Amino acid sequence: MKKSLLIYWPKGGNVDRAAHRIASSFGGVTLQLVSDVDISTLAGYDLIILGGSTVGAENWEEAVESNAWGPFFHTMEKQGLRLDHTYVAFFGLGDHVLYPDHFVDGLGLLYEEFSKFGARLIGRWPAKGYDFTGSLGLDGDMFVGLALDEDHQPELTGGRIDAWVAGLKQEMGG
Ligand SMILES: Cc1cc2nc3c(=O)[nH]c(=O)nc-3n(C[C@H](O)[C@H](O)[C@H](O)COP(=O)(O)O)c2cc1C
Repeated sequence: MKKSLLIYWPKGGNVDRAAHRIASSFGGVTLQLVSDVDISTLAGYDLIILGGSTVGAENWEEAVESNAWGPFFHTMEKQGLRLDHTYVAFFGLGDHVLYPDHFVDGLGLLYEEFSKFGARLIGRWPAKGYDFTGSLGLDGDMFVGLALDEDHQPELTGGRIDAWVAGLKQEMGG
């Protein structure tokens, strides 16, 4: 059994609910809010899943500075953390109807921040089935992690989570 941690933020909304659904689909995953994570323990995990929402494209960079992800990434960098033996996957909540030009931008920003630590990044997800015009979470025709839209496609979330979790297990060799 792989030792797995799911880190998410914020608490109490769609990200929180999705985090719990992913953990229950996966089984045996520890859940922690990003503000509660002890960074010195991270290299002890085989898999780390990170999830967040997009809070507005214009102010995302500022938001990263002022929200709970900012101190998390700053501390990781300061400690010179390396995660060469850890698989890392991402999920992001967004709204493809109200924010089609910046759909799940936060997913791309989490990915970019985390790609500095040498981890094995897994869990790409096809961009088919969402109607949007731009996203920092997109790389070619794939998202860099699981994109979920609880505002407009809540009925698809359960199936997407189960399929994504199955894909992660496959990428890690079962
Ligand atoms: C002020 C505000 C700005 C938002 N900006 C974006 C955006 O740029 N792109 C996007 O995909 N979703 C955007 N959303 C939608 C949220 O990401 C989405 O509703 C998400 O499910 C919220 O998750 P939470 O309840 O955990 O915060 C925005 C929502 C709010 C309230």
